[in-house]
Amino acid sequence: MSKPKVIVTRRWPEQVEAEMQRLFDVELNTDDRPMTKDEIRNAMMRADALCPTVSDKLGPAIFAGEGIRTKILGNFGVGFNHIDIEAAKAAGVRVTNTPGVLTDATADIALTLILMVARRAGEGEREVRDNAWTGWRPTHLLGTQVTGKTLGIIGMGRIAKAVAHRAHHGFGMDVAFYNRSKVDEAEARSLGARQVDSIDEVLETADFVSLHCPGGAETFHLMNAERIGRMKPSAYLINTARGDVVDEQALATALNDGTIAGAGLDVYQGEPDIAPALLSAKNTVLLPHLGSATTETRTAMGMKVVENLKAFFAGETPPDVVV
Ligand code: DGY
Repeated sequence: MSKPKVIVTRRWPEQVEAEMQRLFDVELNTDDRPMTKDEIRNAMMRADALCPTVSDKLGPAIFAGEGIRTKILGNFGVGFNHIDIEAAKAAGVRVTNTPGVLTDATADIALTLILMVARRAGEGEREVRDNAWTGWRPTHLLGTQVTGKTLGIIGMGRIAKAVAHRAHHGFGMDVAFYNRSKVDEAEARSLGARQVDSIDEVLETADFVSLHCPGGAETFHLMNAERIGRMKPSAYLINTARGDVVDEQALATALNDGTIAGAGLDVYQGEPDIAPALLSAKNTVLLPHLGSATTETRTAMGMKVVENLKAFFAGETPPDVVV
């Protein structure tokens, strides 16, 4: 029997690409150039499976019309708001993702941002590299102590729980969180965390607000000017979730006006383009979507895609079905 035809939209870790080559008739993207919409559409006419990732936009037009051969999108990543899920469903295309394996790496990046923005590590590094450091002095680059502060979390999924665990057990932080559904109290207690009834309660009490809700229509600009304005003037906003959860213009204004103390961001609404207002905003640490960027995690994510495709082509339900 011939192997299923699979097209991968970006470069993947070597070990995973080798496994894909072993199992499938695979077309890899060896020069790692982002594919255009037309190229993605064309790939879906030619392949049984397409393996996109967060930087590919699969809107409704990609699924429209006749001639689509692709039966499964093996998404490399846990988030899938770059794929029009309803359109995929209507076109009979299954979508899978890669949950679970990027929890620790992403939680580490949230902590990295908390520490970097509170301790002004980005500013300090730039100063050293610019040869502008004039030496130790008692008032140089004073930041905010993280230990003992309150972490506010919006959206208490797997990654948020791993962030709470690190913050509470590593830095003695209290954790207050908002989640739409009730989180088991014993589990929350073990993370030093208490569930509150509203997002506003999180915003009003937290020294650091960390976002962990999915992107998409329901959470679009959840952190708008009004909500940012509810944060303490001494508080920091951390986003490792999705860029469009934050109104970036409102955030930049709040940072420049001193409405809040700073922000640590790993994700952006129009990435890789970053709003100029954010690039020039005060007290901001900006990372290039590094949440899951460890060799171990990216390899595990790729292997999850492999498992999903293998199950699908064996006529089984893939382990990580989105739709
Ligand atoms: C995901 O998997 O959705 C991440 O954003 C990629 O790190």
